[in-house]
Amino acid sequence: MSDLRTNEFVKIVEVGPRDGLQNEKTPLTLNDRKNLILDLVKTGLKNIEVGSCVSAKWVPQMAHSDELFAQLSKDTDVSFSLLAPNLKGFESALAVGCKEVAVFTAASESFTQKNINCSIDESFEKFTDLMSTAKAHGVKVRGYVSCMVDCPYEGAIAPKKVAIVSKRLLDLGCYEISLGETIGTATPDRVKAVWDACFAEMDVSVLAGHFHNTYGMAIANIYQSLQQGIRIFDSSIAGLGGCPYAKGASGNISTEDLYYLLSKMGYKTGIDLSALMQASHNVGQVLERHNPSNYANAYWQQHSA
Ligand code: HMG
Ligand code: MG
Repeated sequence: MSDLRTNEFVKIVEVGPRDGLQNEKTPLTLNDRKNLILDLVKTGLKNIEVGSCVSAKWVPQMAHSDELFAQLSKDTDVSFSLLAPNLKGFESALAVGCKEVAVFTAASESFTQKNINCSIDESFEKFTDLMSTAKAHGVKVRGYVSCMVDCPYEGAIAPKKVAIVSKRLLDLGCYEISLGETIGTATPDRVKAVWDACFAEMDVSVLAGHFHNTYGMAIANIYQSLQQGIRIFDSSIAGLGGCPYAKGASGNISTEDLYYLLSKMGYKTGIDLSALMQASHNVGQVLERHNPSNYANAYWQQHSA
């Protein structure tokens, strides 16, 4: 086993403004969404998902994500990205100067159907046009595969199936594949089996872990992933999130808890702790929500007068 106490860099993709806010009962105003992103920029995070160019009938919380993107500074070293399920969504992202989009499918037929109203094969047909347009415009494309372990409709998903869908996304031209543990039911042994299946198809360096924390297992699953060499993780400020098409699934691992694990183990993240805590505090005020992050709660207990 490799030495985990290291000064290696771990890339964090902040998904709070997208995965976090797509599940809010009352959509935030564009201004509140923008303020959250500006707070996140101050933390030193270099990869931030701004929103989704999806149907506002399906996910009203993400309406006007392209407008929001247009309001962000282009003079930055932060990669602001948008989700796009098809060419229409991609064109909205392109029109506002977006340089990175994420496409999303799943290793489960039922979840793909509920989430984007098509089969897995049909999702790839949509991505083909999107990908060639992205290549022509120099836009980077990240790929998501939901249901890396369990599907809310089908139950357990075979690791081999996850590996096959991930490889298809890579072959299509995605530069990075994020595996979504969509409903947060996984335990480290099952996560290990999925990474092992993927390693047979692709290099560890293109894989990212996206762990929801419904059963409190996300940090254990991240530790397992680190042991297997994964160095890219998605997280959400204040543990916000869920998927509108995965009932009962709670938020992603909080960026605060991920930061604590990584920094205490010696990994570099480029995050400024006090700015992270300020962003965490501010979004809590806006949403009037208890923060499920253990670290954020411990931090404020120690830092309140
Ligand atoms: P559809 O109804 O099959 O689409 O929806 P359609 O092509 O038949 O078109 C129907 C209408 O939608 C048309 O408008 C289109 O123009 C419009 P109308 O003529 O009726 O006025 N339309 C669009 N509008 C805006 N943006 C677009 C777009 N495309 C078509 N891009 C669609 C298909 C994919 C659009 C729909 O199912 C959808 O928007 N789904 C949203 C899915 C979503 O956002 N899910 C959450 C994100 S994924 C996630 O959270 C998981 C992840 O975090 C990883 C994990 O945790 O597992 C990534
Ligand atoms: Mg998610």
